[in-house]
Amino acid sequence: MTHDKTRPNPPMDLHAHIEALDKAGLLVRVDRPINKDTQLQPLVRWQFIGGVPEDERRAFLFTNVVDSKGKRYDMPVVIGALASSPRIYAMGMGRPVEDIGPAWTDAILNPVPPVIVETAPCQEIVMQGDDLTREGGGLASLPVPISTPGYDAAPYLTATLCVTRDPETGVQNTGMYRAALKAKDRLVVRMVARPGGAGGWIHWNKYRARKERMPISIVLGAAPVVVFTSPQKLAVDLDEYAVAGAVAGQPIEMVKCLTNDLLVPAASEIVIEGYIEPDLLEPEAPFGESNGYVALEAFNMPMQVTAITQRRNAMFNAIISQVTPSESSVIKKVAYEPQFLGHLKHALGIKGIKRVVLHEPLTNLRPVIFLQFEYGAPQTEIWRGLQGASTLLTAFGKVVIAVSDDIDPSSVDAVLWSIAYRSNPKEDVVIFPYRGGGQGSQYGERKTDSALLIDATRKRLMAPLALPRKEFMEDALALWNELDLPPVKRPSPWHGYELGNWGDDWTRFAENAVRGDWEVNGVETFKRQRSGLEAETTVRSVEK
Ligand SMILES: Cc1cc2nc3c(=O)[nH]c(=O)nc-3n(C[C@H](O)[C@H](O)[C@H](O)COP(=O)(O)O)c2cc1C
Repeated sequence: MTHDKTRPNPPMDLHAHIEALDKAGLLVRVDRPINKDTQLQPLVRWQFIGGVPEDERRAFLFTNVVDSKGKRYDMPVVIGALASSPRIYAMGMGRPVEDIGPAWTDAILNPVPPVIVETAPCQEIVMQGDDLTREGGGLASLPVPISTPGYDAAPYLTATLCVTRDPETGVQNTGMYRAALKAKDRLVVRMVARPGGAGGWIHWNKYRARKERMPISIVLGAAPVVVFTSPQKLAVDLDEYAVAGAVAGQPIEMVKCLTNDLLVPAASEIVIEGYIEPDLLEPEAPFGESNGYVALEAFNMPMQVTAITQRRNAMFNAIISQVTPSESSVIKKVAYEPQFLGHLKHALGIKGIKRVVLHEPLTNLRPVIFLQFEYGAPQTEIWRGLQGASTLLTAFGKVVIAVSDDIDPSSVDAVLWSIAYRSNPKEDVVIFPYRGGGQGSQYGERKTDSALLIDATRKRLMAPLALPRKEFMEDALALWNELDLPPVKRPSPWHGYELGNWGDDWTRFAENAVRGDWEVNGVETFKRQRSGLEAETTVRSVEK
């Protein structure tokens, strides 16, 4: 069989992915000792808050991890390898960035069911029974970093695939939920507990009603296509592994856990197996969250660990979340933006919608959404779009702003400029009540929220944008570079363009001016002098 070069070829385990990142120059290897409790996450944080351009962000591999007690871990820690940037995410998908959205849409429609295998790399080493609780054993053997040193109450598992099964339908669910280390054989897992909340929480409620403990396995480190499904809001009865299989172009190999009956990806790095009791809850957190605030202590689900299985050369995979941008926001943005656009375009059939941008820095994608419409899209369609984006998912779309297609919706400056000059708040702003409380609202008094919808599209023909026309800016950029001046970016807008209110006579004037023939213009306007007018009377109101 000849290899089809057009077929995507995503890495099928974390090792293959790290190797590919290294080859592409997207991996930083740190061999000096790094303290996982105080240094590791803060070091990588600088890449997100220190102004490193998105495309230059890297994954980090720490090969010499120590902790605050001076213990040295044999297992390396890899962080930032899943989604430090869309480019890194795309490497995990085995596709270019622009194909990410269509690949997910297609995979959801055409899932490829997983296959079950008998032996698996993730079970090469098994820790069970007394080995879990001996000095330095169990969870204490894993180099689990502290995400927000100074606020977090424990090291946390972050890049998790928490696998549970619906006791009624038998369908497995996988979610990325944080888990706090509490003892060598106990964690506390936090699953969002509200309508529209975590799939695992929905399962737990069913076990609770039956008074049965819930089997759970936490997978750490797997093929990126598998991990990427974990934070996605897929339909509860849709098997994440079948979606991942469709993206991979081959079925995902699964193996049965040793101490519960769940299936986990065979090529995983580490699997923590166990059970959650149907009733007992234990205080968990503080822990820094992706809404930019520290979650305060709350009662969540203690998991009793029954086994830890791993590959012989396992790597510990962590994710950097908290204040955005972070891996947590990139991992969601690349999949959610196409999902929103698809919903508005195809499910709601909104005419003129072109682009959806979820605002990322600090706000973390959910609350602020920008929609880009073709100029001339009917006002009724713009308002359907604003409402559609505000209601698709709970906690998304607290502020939704529509702009026209000459405005770059990924530039907040350009969006504010559009609000400033293209909207009349009295007519173009609606405040919509009775939204669900946003993420983190469980720590405040308020249970409901409202939405702010703004139509900042261009409603009429407008005068050109007051920057030199494109050809002058391009020539000048070549000159700038020739003069060896500091490098410049091309923000949007970076050149003038017309917005409908313009005329051939003014084009002629401008052409005369750039040719040096400004006096020709003066000769013409001299002939058009008039008396009896107020200053600033527009020419068109008099001459046409
Ligand atoms: C880095 C990261 C951390 C997350 N932590 C949690 C968490 O602790 N609890 C939770 O319920 N959801 C968390 N989420 C969101 C869920 O992963 C997301 O809602 C996903 O859709 C859950 O899958 P489910 O719908 O099958 O529950 C996190 C997402 C990311 C990217």
